[in-house]
Amino acid sequence: MPENIIVCEDLWHIYPGEVTALRDANLTITEGEVVGVIGQNGSGKTTLVKHFNGLLKPSRGQVLVNGMDVGSHGTAELSRNVGYVFQNPNHQLFANSVTKEISFGPRNLGLEEREVEEQVEQAIDFFDLEDIRDSHPYRLSFPVRKLVTMAAIYAMQPKIFVLDEPTTGQDHIGVRLVHKLIQKLRETGATVIIVSHDMILQAEATDRLVVLWQAEIIGDGSPREIFSDDQLMERTNLHPPQITQLSRRIYRSGLPEAALRVEELAEPLAKTL
Ligand SMILES: Nc1ncnc2c1ncn2[C@@H]1O[C@H](COP(=O)(O)OP(=O)(O)OP(=O)(O)O)[C@@H](O)[C@H]1O
Ligand SMILES: [Mg+2]
Repeated sequence: MPENIIVCEDLWHIYPGEVTALRDANLTITEGEVVGVIGQNGSGKTTLVKHFNGLLKPSRGQVLVNGMDVGSHGTAELSRNVGYVFQNPNHQLFANSVTKEISFGPRNLGLEEREVEEQVEQAIDFFDLEDIRDSHPYRLSFPVRKLVTMAAIYAMQPKIFVLDEPTTGQDHIGVRLVHKLIQKLRETGATVIIVSHDMILQAEATDRLVVLWQAEIIGDGSPREIFSDDQLMERTNLHPPQITQLSRRIYRSGLPEAALRVEELAEPLAKTL
């Protein structure tokens, strides 16, 4: 039986100034799940996931990550198991070269220098950063900076990998890299949490979607279920991928009811034509 790796119980987060960003959230994520978090701007997505490595502490309620209560464990300790790629890379970057940025995490975990190097080289290779390995991160464009922050977390091989808006601003190559990253993490058995407005990514890469609306979790199900729930989509002002919308409109026997990928609809549709 896969264990419950993240458990939020009656979680509230209230920022200074009485801003309630999370209201009574209950959520259980099991090891190895790939879970998307969706919701409009300001609905509380980043606030939710920042509890997973202790960057934020519950105002009320409890969050258990890998059996540890985030309220009583520090970020340093939690970060051994949880890697969080910030929504804004400028909040994460601090070193003066790409290589130094990526080495920091594994070195900090106490790996031997040889292992640190190995992890760094693998990350540079995976994210195709060889040409800019000596560059100062602040000389790079926002999307490339974001890839550097993903590489920095990747090099730590965390058991839980949290991505906050990984495809924002990415070109096609960057988006493919994010898909490839999630696929790789899935194969290695990591638990992956993806906060994203990119509904194509959410449809194609996740097993499950959690929907936030005005600080509350109001939906939790498979992408197919969530994207077929018209009331939920309307209330949250979220839009399923066009392929899902199209397949639902033209649905008939022999075709998928709610396709999540182009191929899922294209092949059976071609046969009926
Ligand atoms: N440090 C803070 N202090 C006060 N209020 C904050 C702070 N950070 C976030 N908020 C507020 O909390 C609410 C939730 O913010 P959060 O960043 O979690 O939303 P989000 O769903 O990640 O939005 P986005 O899609 O824009 O990234 C918003 O109303 C936001 O303005
Ligand atoms: Mg956010």
